Amino acid sequence: MPRYYKFFEFEYGVKKCNFLMNKSLIVANWKMNPATLKESKRLFNSVKEGIKNVKNTEVVICPPFIYLPVLKSEAKGPSFAISFGGQSCFWEEKGAFTGEVSPTMLKGLGCQYVILGHSERRKYFQETDEMINKKIKAALKAKLKPILCIGETESEKKSGKTLYILKKQLTSAFKNTPKSLILNSKFSIAYEPIWAIGTGNFCDPLKAKKILLFLRKTIKKNPILYGGSVNSQNARDYIKVSGFQGLLVGGASLDAKEFIKIVKSVGY
Ligand code: PGA
Repeated sequence: MPRYYKFFEFEYGVKKCNFLMNKSLIVANWKMNPATLKESKRLFNSVKEGIKNVKNTEVVICPPFIYLPVLKSEAKGPSFAISFGGQSCFWEEKGAFTGEVSPTMLKGLGCQYVILGHSERRKYFQETDEMINKKIKAALKAKLKPILCIGETESEKKSGKTLYILKKQLTSAFKNTPKSLILNSKFSIAYEPIWAIGTGNFCDPLKAKKILLFLRKTIKKNPILYGGSVNSQNARDYIKVSGFQGLLVGGASLDAKEFIKIVKSVGY
């Protein structure tokens, strides 16, 4: 067994489970949407208005990078509680890396979170476990809260490899990460079965619960979220039936009414 894995199991495997959070984390992954800044402002302001009285949730909006400064300024106001996140970041702080955005830059724009290892990044941009590992370390160093996405494909599920894949993605993401960085960090894990993303074919909440219990053997205290075709009909079940501490919402986060319903179904 590799050394980092032992360390990881030790650090997270023996501690008493104390993640009992009073807030669910609802993350909106807008992906490369909406097409214009004007639409993004409209969507953001509708969501902001719709959830302003909802308690017990922390809502994180992850828009395309270039909308972040504008939406951040729209977010100002008394008792305002929407956080922001990037959908990815690079592992270097600055330099000749055309097209990339660093964790420090995201932090400077007021982001607290960053989604890392999303299956679309792995598939379309060839992000490997090694690259995700570098990104996790850089994000932690910049004091961002990484939301690490892990999940199996349809064929991996069919061939019974789900748990193996999840463990591999999880352990390689944190490989050789200094103990001090992990222990003081506020990372989350998002279980996103790839076959459930954008398909409407969501994971049965009781089956998802089994995956959650499996992940909890390793991740004792940090939030674990579910993602993959979350909608206003199934959102609550992932929190109340499965026991996840939050949700990562893609398609449904682009429809203000639907997203508000999701947040309200989870909060109160
Ligand atoms: P979905 O996407 O909600 O549209 O399935 C989730 C995600 O990709 O994070």
